[in-house]
Amino acid sequence: METKLITATEQEDSCLKQKSNKNMRKNFGARPLCLPQPVFIIGTYNEDGTPNAMNAAWGGISNDDEISICISADHKTTKNLLRDKCFSISMATASQVVECDYVGIASGNKDENKLAKTKWETTKCENINAPMFRQLPLTMECKLISYDNESCRLDGKIVNVSADESVLDEAGKLDVKKLAPIVFDPFNNEYLVIGEKVGNAFKDGTKLR
Ligand SMILES: Cc1cc2nc3c(=O)[nH]c(=O)nc-3n(C[C@H](O)[C@H](O)[C@H](O)COP(=O)(O)O)c2cc1C
Repeated sequence: METKLITATEQEDSCLKQKSNKNMRKNFGARPLCLPQPVFIIGTYNEDGTPNAMNAAWGGISNDDEISICISADHKTTKNLLRDKCFSISMATASQVVECDYVGIASGNKDENKLAKTKWETTKCENINAPMFRQLPLTMECKLISYDNESCRLDGKIVNVSADESVLDEAGKLDVKKLAPIVFDPFNNEYLVIGEKVGNAFKDGTKLR
């Protein structure tokens, strides 16, 4: 029987060919690369009563009336919300992208009046002792359920959601195009705007029933 010797390079080539024929996907590994990720702006009060805000993109709805976010213990926001046991979450929007990014790169630990540069106008939430911002029209009011120092997991109970009239349609429904919320793309470190409707949830799938 004739034996054919294969060089290491030939072996690698054929291995790669097999891989790319079978599977044209690229592996990014075990990293937090979920797309899209909502961009939350967490509002809290500092101990002197001045408002603070931070950008958080590692979070989402975790139950009917609950939201969970991975938030580092050393942030000013974390200290504030542990003290006051509440926080607001506003959706970052396209028109405020510079300000929303700024509150994600500046810390209230270093600048107590960090929000001054955003020029956001602040009012107290209706149901909790946390600020909300006129320039960010969609806001959740949350009470602290728990925070775990080791995992950095924050769980909050949603006690109210409110939207400024400017982002409602004539029927009083939220108009996503008017709000123009942004999402975070962790693959490219970019913000993308959402607003184009492509389907109806819980309905379009029925075509395949
Ligand atoms: C796009 C983006 C997403 C971020 N997501 C998170 C997050 O989910 N959790 C977190 O702990 N920090 C996150 N950060 C970092 C904080 O926003 C940042 O450290 C901020 O300065 C904290 O502010 P504070 O100390 O005033 O609370 C994010 C920053 C950016 C720009």
